[in-house]
Amino acid sequence: MIERYFATCPRGLEQVLAAELAALGGQSIEPVDGGVAFAGDQALCYAANLESRVASRVLWQVGQARYRSEHDLFDAARALPWPRLFDVGHTIRVNVSAIRSPVKSLDFVTLRVKDAVCDAFRQQRGSRPDVDTQAPDVRIHAFLTRDQATFYLDTSGEALFKRGWRAAGGDAPLRENLAAGILRLTGWAPPTPLFDPMCGSGTFLVESAMMALDAAPGLDRSFGFERLSGFDADLWRTLREKARARRRRLDRLPIYGSDKSGSVLGMARENLAAIGLAGAVELKQMDVLDGGPPAAGGIMVMNPPYGERLGGTDELAAFYPRLGDALKQRYAGWTAYILTSDLNLARLIGLKATKRTPLYNGALECRLFEYRLVAGSLRRRKPAGGDA
Ligand SMILES: C[S@@+](CC[C@H](N)C(=O)[O-])C[C@H]1O[C@@H](n2cnc3c(N)ncnc32)[C@H](O)[C@@H]1O
Repeated sequence: MIERYFATCPRGLEQVLAAELAALGGQSIEPVDGGVAFAGDQALCYAANLESRVASRVLWQVGQARYRSEHDLFDAARALPWPRLFDVGHTIRVNVSAIRSPVKSLDFVTLRVKDAVCDAFRQQRGSRPDVDTQAPDVRIHAFLTRDQATFYLDTSGEALFKRGWRAAGGDAPLRENLAAGILRLTGWAPPTPLFDPMCGSGTFLVESAMMALDAAPGLDRSFGFERLSGFDADLWRTLREKARARRRRLDRLPIYGSDKSGSVLGMARENLAAIGLAGAVELKQMDVLDGGPPAAGGIMVMNPPYGERLGGTDELAAFYPRLGDALKQRYAGWTAYILTSDLNLARLIGLKATKRTPLYNGALECRLFEYRLVAGSLRRRKPAGGDA
């Protein structure tokens, strides 16, 4: 049976996610702001959860209706066959999001959708599911546009960027799926060396290692679809076993990380150990302004401290020109990708960006700047104001 799904993702990564879903066999793929609509069978839904490195959630569309009022939304939700979709013993949580909806309160709509679901159960099963907003068994999403409501069951459960490998956090760790999407945007693949000189807790290192090993990101976690009616345990087991058998075993990877902070490096080490790669990725305590590259060329990827989160802005204003000089002087042959929310970087770093990709880190608008570092790529710094 072909069903309709919507996979959410960090904004800016929709095309990367669309490519992933196409490679998994998705049909009718349609990227929109913040996610990708697609169609496929149950196996595709399981595979998207297991294999997508970029999706945040995979939502299964269970209903759609036109509406004008909160009352219509209650009726539309009430008409859906919830008791056939999951067991009354499961706890639920309802989430409502909207773009240009005329409703006055999303909290009120959330309550009404929850009431509609409970009503349907009470009438058909004689009892209703409990609500658990912290750790629900089943998540129900409603998405409202100006006049249309779409209802979804969340097949992921916990968000997909929670892979299960993060033992240690660091200062401002990147979301795993944002890091994986950035790695895809760089086009990196082994045997090209990959180097993160400000690796923090090692998100780029772990995600790139999992790509190098062809390790499915969802191998070690459970999913929301396991708690929905019609869950096909045999199909799921087969998919997971195939993914497990495919995972390569390598003792060395062309992946390198460094950070100026020794304690933060300890976190990266802990996170790599969680995926069994403590020795496969080379870690070094080093200031990016002082040290040199681990190989003759390759891809560098980094996210320097954000002005708002770490370090003062003045400190960063002094840091970027020095980073630009270090890259120019010591990293010819490398292509550097820098993720930052600080658009002053473009002006202060003194290098000519060969590409800028808008990306969102949660609500924070960022750019991924690409610098192809060839001898002579340093140019005069622009006066204040330009997005070089
Ligand atoms: C925003 S965090 C990186 C987070 C990382 N991508 C993660 O997911 O955990 C920035 C990191 O840069 C490091 N750092 C700051 N200045 C540095 C420098 N001059 N050389 C090397 N590392 C530096 C900090 O210790 C911090 O771990």
